Amino acid sequence: MTRRSKLISCASYLPEKILTNNDLAKIVDTSDEWIAQRTGIKSRHMAAEGEKTSDMATKAALRALEKAGLKGTDIDAIFLATTTPDQVFPATAVTVQDKIGMGDKGFAFDLQAVCSGFVFALATADNFIKAGQVKRALVIGAEHFTSLLDWNDRTTCVLFGDGAGAVILEADDSGKGTKEDRGILSTHLHSEGAHRDLLYVNGGPSSTKSGGHVVMNGREVFRHAVKRMSEVVEETLKENNIDSSEIKYLVPHQANSRIIESTAQKLNLSSEKVVLTVDHHGNTSAASIPLALAEAVEDGRIAEGDLILMEALGGGLTWGAALVRM
Ligand code: UT7
Repeated sequence: MTRRSKLISCASYLPEKILTNNDLAKIVDTSDEWIAQRTGIKSRHMAAEGEKTSDMATKAALRALEKAGLKGTDIDAIFLATTTPDQVFPATAVTVQDKIGMGDKGFAFDLQAVCSGFVFALATADNFIKAGQVKRALVIGAEHFTSLLDWNDRTTCVLFGDGAGAVILEADDSGKGTKEDRGILSTHLHSEGAHRDLLYVNGGPSSTKSGGHVVMNGREVFRHAVKRMSEVVEETLKENNIDSSEIKYLVPHQANSRIIESTAQKLNLSSEKVVLTVDHHGNTSAASIPLALAEAVEDGRIAEGDLILMEALGGGLTWGAALVRM
């Protein structure tokens, strides 16, 4: 008997407003051609005035609960990955806990690993479940990333978008300890703080005593992303003793279609086996993987029993992967 965290539901929420590359070309010196060629992005969603990270996270969470036929009180814990909380504190997760009607049941907290946040949250929830401390968990990636952007900086403001995705994990003791088990088969987390200056926000309570904007050395982050993502993918395949041909879908963090293509090539995966949403979501940081997963589940590409590989790299630098049998 092996305890696994089975993924029983996933859902997402995207704000109504869509910002196209041409809209951005009216704000900064850029073009649809440059953005599309260098990143694969054509458009992204943007939160409405007053719409907060917790609002988006709550909508995704309620949809995931509805799909699973569950109520808020059926959840023991919320692990919410975000870089853009409503406030410095309390955690955005406790607002979601209240709004989905969990009352005082269980606990809720935020995690911060920027674009790798969802993989880090998934791994954390998986470990709580395996330890027997949590039976059912909501794992959410939610971002209001457009609020962190300097709208005069064309090197960053064209890249990011807003949205939220949520999955529900449930303890399942019917596993046999093999790769055929349903649920999370393994997670792999890494960070290297020496590279924290490649991608960061230039503000915060203990430094500038204020907020700040995203600053990125895009070329260097790109180089690390290609290297680290293929390393962590290989580590995942090796630990599970599987061949990349067994993977039904790669569900990568959506930062740049060129980074995603390079990882897929290294895995020998054709483009049909890669879930790509960066073209219409942009980079939604911690929300990008659950948003992509929900899209592929909803349109029927990913179904029960499929083996999927998630991977991400973000500021920190942080990077990680998760292998999941749906
Ligand atoms: O999610 C977290 C992880 N993040 C990532 O993985 C992002 C990784 N990095 C990237 O995706 C790419 O590096 C970018 C898309 C950010 C940039 O693409 P690039 O091919 O690395 O371009 P670059 O930064 O080397 O810039 C090339 C040129 C520069 O002009 P010069 O110096 O060659 O004259 C830039 O000033 O493109 C210019 N440029 C732009 N031009 C039009 C930069 N941004 C823009 C823009 N529109 N928006």
